Order: sequence, then structure tokens, then C-alpha cells
Amino acid sequence: MRQKIVAGNWKMNKTWEDAKILTAEVMGMVADEVKGNVKTILCVPFPYLGSLKNQLGSSTVKIGAQNCSEHDWGAYTGEVSALMLKSMEIPYVILGHSERRQYFGEDGKLLARKIDKTLAANLTPIFCCGEQLEIREAGTHEKLVKQQVEDALFHLSADALKKIVIAYEPVWAIGTGKTASAQQAQEMHAVIRKHLASKYGAPVANEISILYGGSVKADNAQELFSCPDVDGGLVGGASLKSREFVDIVKAMK
Ligand code: 13P
Repeated sequence: MRQKIVAGNWKMNKTWEDAKILTAEVMGMVADEVKGNVKTILCVPFPYLGSLKNQLGSSTVKIGAQNCSEHDWGAYTGEVSALMLKSMEIPYVILGHSERRQYFGEDGKLLARKIDKTLAANLTPIFCCGEQLEIREAGTHEKLVKQQVEDALFHLSADALKKIVIAYEPVWAIGTGKTASAQQAQEMHAVIRKHLASKYGAPVANEISILYGGSVKADNAQELFSCPDVDGGLVGGASLKSREFVDIVKAMK
């Protein structure tokens, strides 16, 4: 059985006061309302990680970061390393989000190094891939996403790969309110899983959780999550509202 996961990616949002309130609300609602074995994760801005982790305490809601450095330590002003996250017992980190690729020039080679750092630190990376609109329109989206997966992950051993969570996030669906249809999501998740199977074999590929991201909302989550290869979601805007986010978590059955 693959782990079911719904992760919120807060991106660069919320004041410290609002972050504490949102965390408290999510924690309370998840405790009261979420019964299944879905894992809930909040990927929050760096400065809030330590305190929100403490606030969550023994809650089933877990905390994650949104990025980390390819370096361990040293003169890299403004960067945060996987070893720092490890030392704070932060279990998850998003890597390769399309916004990092687009605005910060992150490419497959860099992401492969970051993946290695997170695994060496015993963190679970949530590795993002997904095509831009022009790629989808040109019909080369499968090729591109397979390449993204290959560039960042195919150097790993099967045992290392099993520690990765993948998030398919079509760029044209991020923050646009234009979600992929359940059929489009399922197709791409199956493409990714088949590609993993081509290198690692089906039993390994079948163990990897693949999340869908891109305008997931409470009213479309259930349909997306009912697809056989969709193991949960990576949620941006809708993770900033506790009621909406927890309703999405509850849609993952
Ligand atoms: P939205 O849910 O706001 O479209 O963002 C998706 C995303 O980028 C999550 O990482």
C-alpha cells in the first residue's frame, strides 16, 4: 500500500501570527475529523519551521520545508542546508518546485545534488515535476516530465528511490484555478510510474507516492484523488485556509 499524502505548500505567505493560527486550526480539525491513514504535511516558510514543529508536538500533522541548499555548510549567505533541517528534525522538504525552476534557475543537475543531500540527511524529499503550457500544447509533456524525473532521480539506487515522494504539478494549473482533469492527472501519473518501472521494476515503482498539484480545491479533490495512480495532493492556495485544506485532506480516502 502506498502512503497517501496531502501536503500544503504555503509558499511565501502568512505573517508569523497568522501562521500560528492556521497551524492550530489545521491541527485541531485533523485531530477531530481525519480518520484514515492519510499523512498531512505543512510545508512552511523557513523562519517558522522550528516553532511550528514545536506547536504541532505529537500531532499527526507533520512539518516540511520548501527548499534546501545543495551544500552542507559554509559561506552561502541566505541558504539553508539539509543538515540544518535534519538537526531540527524537519522530516520533509519540497525540491524542484516549478517556481524554483522558473525564478531561481534550478535545473535537473542541481536538483539531483539536492536530492542526494536530503537523502543523506534522512529527509524525505517531495520532488516536483511538470510541464509548462506551451509544452502541453506542443504535445511534448510526457517526454519533458520523463526527462525531469530521469535527470533528478535516475542516478539513485532502488532503495534510495523508495524514500522519494513525487509531485506532478503541471505549471499551467498552478495558481490559475485551471486544474488538470482527473483523466489528465491519471495519464501523467501513470506515465511517471511506468517510467520509474522501466528503470527500477514495477514493484519499486508501485511503492512510490505520486501527488498531484495545481489548483487542488475541496470541490475537485475527491475526483482527482480517486484516480488509481494519484496518491494525494500538493496544495498551494487552498492550503492557506484551514477549512478548505482539511476538507481536501478528508477527500483522500
Ligand atoms: P495552487 O494549489 O495554488 O495551484 O499551487 C499548487 C502548487 O504549486 C503547490 O506546490
